Amino acid sequence: MSFIVAVDGPAGSGKGTITKEIEKRTGLINLDTGATYRCFALEVLKHGYAPSDTKNILKLLENIDIKIENEGNEDVVLLNGKDVTDEIRTTEVTEASALISTIKEVRAKMVELQRKMVGNKNVIVEGRDIGTVVFPHADLKIYLDADDEVRAQRRYKEYIEKGMNITYDEVLEQIRWRDENDKHKEVGALKKADDAIVVDTSNKSIDEVVESVKAMIEEKMKEKEKNNVENTER
Ligand code: DC
Repeated sequence: MSFIVAVDGPAGSGKGTITKEIEKRTGLINLDTGATYRCFALEVLKHGYAPSDTKNILKLLENIDIKIENEGNEDVVLLNGKDVTDEIRTTEVTEASALISTIKEVRAKMVELQRKMVGNKNVIVEGRDIGTVVFPHADLKIYLDADDEVRAQRRYKEYIEKGMNITYDEVLEQIRWRDENDKHKEVGALKKADDAIVVDTSNKSIDEVVESVKAMIEEKMKEKEKNNVENTER
């Protein structure tokens, strides 16, 4: 029986950083579902299709092959066998992935793929609709949030460190646009699951958030183990 932690939240709320750190500290395997949408967006762009060209886009869905492999401490993302780990992080792909992730057929395929990737492993899965759609019966659901200005500041810092030429105001505008896009999808919109625990990361250090999430995981694992023992003894 697998143990599943679902982590949802808007762009820049700290999902990637926190789940990667939890992987190191607990042994749960981290799955970044955003990477699947990014891969598909890259495939669409490579074919020269506009993200609004639904007819052609849907044809690409049939033969897409996405794999995420863990090498050392790094995830390597493979699209049709090719390493695209860095290529899926450009602003062009970020924008295209936001747009194609609103198409319901694309979501259905990505959700199917994400469930297959998890199989019966013990995982921490991050995205937008994990606790609501992908794994509605997850053992623990966390909704990470932070003020949009704090999230923009974090992204801005990442971009500058990567040497990108962008202003803080442009990043803030991008974040606000992505929030609107994420929250108003017809299917798989970003929203807190009723049974999710909200963690506001605005004024917390990474370590504080990781340690509090880790404590929640350990408590849930103990609870599940205890229930399993009680059930087998019955
Ligand atoms: O988390 P991210 O920024 O890498 O995600 C890229 C895009 O994919 C983002 O615009 C939202 C979308 N996405 C989604 O719709 N559902 C998910 N479970 C994960 C990401």
